[in-house]
Amino acid sequence: MSVRIAIIGGTGVYDPNILSNIREEKISTPFGETAVKIGQYQGKDVAFLNRHGAGHSVPPHLVNYRANIAGLKKLGVKTIIATAAVGSINEKMKPGDFVFCDQFLDFTKSRPSTFFEGGENGVVHVDVTDPYCPGLRKVMAQVADELKLSYHQGGVYVTTEGPRYETPAEIKMFKKLGGDLVGMTSVPEVVLAREAGICYATVCMVTNFGAGISENPLTHEEVLEVMDKNAENLRKLAMGTISKLSLDRECGCHTAVSGPMHELLKG
Ligand code: HPA
Repeated sequence: MSVRIAIIGGTGVYDPNILSNIREEKISTPFGETAVKIGQYQGKDVAFLNRHGAGHSVPPHLVNYRANIAGLKKLGVKTIIATAAVGSINEKMKPGDFVFCDQFLDFTKSRPSTFFEGGENGVVHVDVTDPYCPGLRKVMAQVADELKLSYHQGGVYVTTEGPRYETPAEIKMFKKLGGDLVGMTSVPEVVLAREAGICYATVCMVTNFGAGISENPLTHEEVLEVMDKNAENLRKLAMGTISKLSLDRECGCHTAVSGPMHELLKG
């Protein structure tokens, strides 16, 4: 039976132990190898992929996003719930809040951001009007309501190149441009999921206010501390969403660009 649902765990979300009968699988793709843990939750097979590798060893600009998404596609995954620790540049989105982002601004610089590099693989211009699935975000919000969590439906995720944090001047610029959140990983992950025809949404967890809004210098430890405090809520939110998803749900995301990826993974 193929695995239909995956969680991509970001910073502070490393624990697949909510799943039972866990096995580890390495998946090779034309873009390199990725590793997932596959287990069961309420009778559904669920894959757990740790975005930053074992022990947070891969920085955001060096994550092999293509191998990760191609690997999940190869497993048969149709829905991805991603998690992300983010800084906030919107005073309404406070540390500890969840945000189901609906748009992105792309400030990355050095990452392969498409499966389709021309030549025999062709050229694909994927539509990203709704990069984060509106249907999936709605289910997440229902679960957040049930859990009485503090959340925001919609938000603009500014993806920076990292691995450094931002300057206060950059934070001011991002705010002027309409950004709500800053993080280092959503692009190209969301774009590749879309190219692969996988329905994708992100649960952002606000860990801090952006540089210059926050009075203190930012540290990774501070980010981890807030993630840790809210880990149980994040887990409940992800699992509650999986619980509500039907395995054969169909969604417009699946046909954003369905044919070419299939050909590409056939190798
Ligand atoms: N900036 C970029 N990425 C982040 C931040 C931030 O302030 N907090 C958590 N991830």
